[in-house]
Amino acid sequence: MLGVIARLVRNCALGRAIQYSVAPVIESRGCGVLDAPPARGMTAERIAAALAMTGVDAPSPFQRPHEASILPAMSAPEIRPTTEADLPAITAIYQQAVREGTATFELDPPDLAEMTRRYRALVDGGYPYFVAMLDGRVAGYAYAGAYRPRPAYRFTVENSIYLDPSFHRRGVGSRLLERLITECEARGFRQMIAVIGDSANAGSIGVHTRCGFKMIGTHPNVGLKFGRWLDTVMMQRDLGEGARSMPGK
Ligand SMILES: CC(C)(COP(=O)(O)OP(=O)(O)OC[C@H]1O[C@@H](n2cnc3c(N)ncnc32)[C@H](O)[C@@H]1OP(=O)(O)O)[C@@H](O)C(=O)NCCC(=O)NCCS
Repeated sequence: MLGVIARLVRNCALGRAIQYSVAPVIESRGCGVLDAPPARGMTAERIAAALAMTGVDAPSPFQRPHEASILPAMSAPEIRPTTEADLPAITAIYQQAVREGTATFELDPPDLAEMTRRYRALVDGGYPYFVAMLDGRVAGYAYAGAYRPRPAYRFTVENSIYLDPSFHRRGVGSRLLERLITECEARGFRQMIAVIGDSANAGSIGVHTRCGFKMIGTHPNVGLKFGRWLDTVMMQRDLGEGARSMPGK
């Protein structure tokens, strides 16, 4: 109950942040709200508040433990490195996201062989790839990969995170992303970039904001999917010392 009250108080505060919001950006497109059905108790004001957060500085990364959800209590997910045995479940999650959502701009769902090829390329390239396990199931996954192939970008990664929709909005995405960030820092990367498909993707903008990403900007109308022009939203955060020091290599 205390968690619910704390959440309501915080959301009231967020409501005040709407004056700084990126509402014009939000109105024009959509990535993720479509594939993340609004949680119970999710009002238009709360969705607006979550999106408005993207126009202001985010709180310190991992500052707040995930409060009790208004959804039924759920045990904490186990976050662990992905193995090839996880790839059929990961493929099913991603195929649904491709078929039904706008978070990804892929149009044809890749099969298990292609997902396996991508997984091996990432892991062999020195990038982390995690799954979140709940009730013995793969609830979601997250990985980092090269932001761009040119060598000067070698300290910058782009992240990717997808959950089974039945596990949305319960803190699983935040835990996965926190673990990914920590691991990327341990591996010496300095910047993480999120390229969020569809500026109406409140879930993705919310999870990145919560994990300390700042809004960089929006590329308007760069995708076409389901008969709609779609934006990409760029968010970014420092890893470790960011640009405050030079790497040793
Ligand atoms: C994006 C995604 C990974 C988020 O994971 P999640 O477990 O649902 O997110 P969390 O429960 O950890 O929520 C993190 C924050 O975002 C907010 N949020 C999550 N979903 C939201 C939604 N639909 N609307 C508004 N805010 C939302 C939460 O309120 C939370 O903030 P708070 O703790 O301050 O309240 C998940 O929704 C998903 O897989 N979406 C489809 C694929 C996708 O969009 N991937 C991102 C590609 S860039």
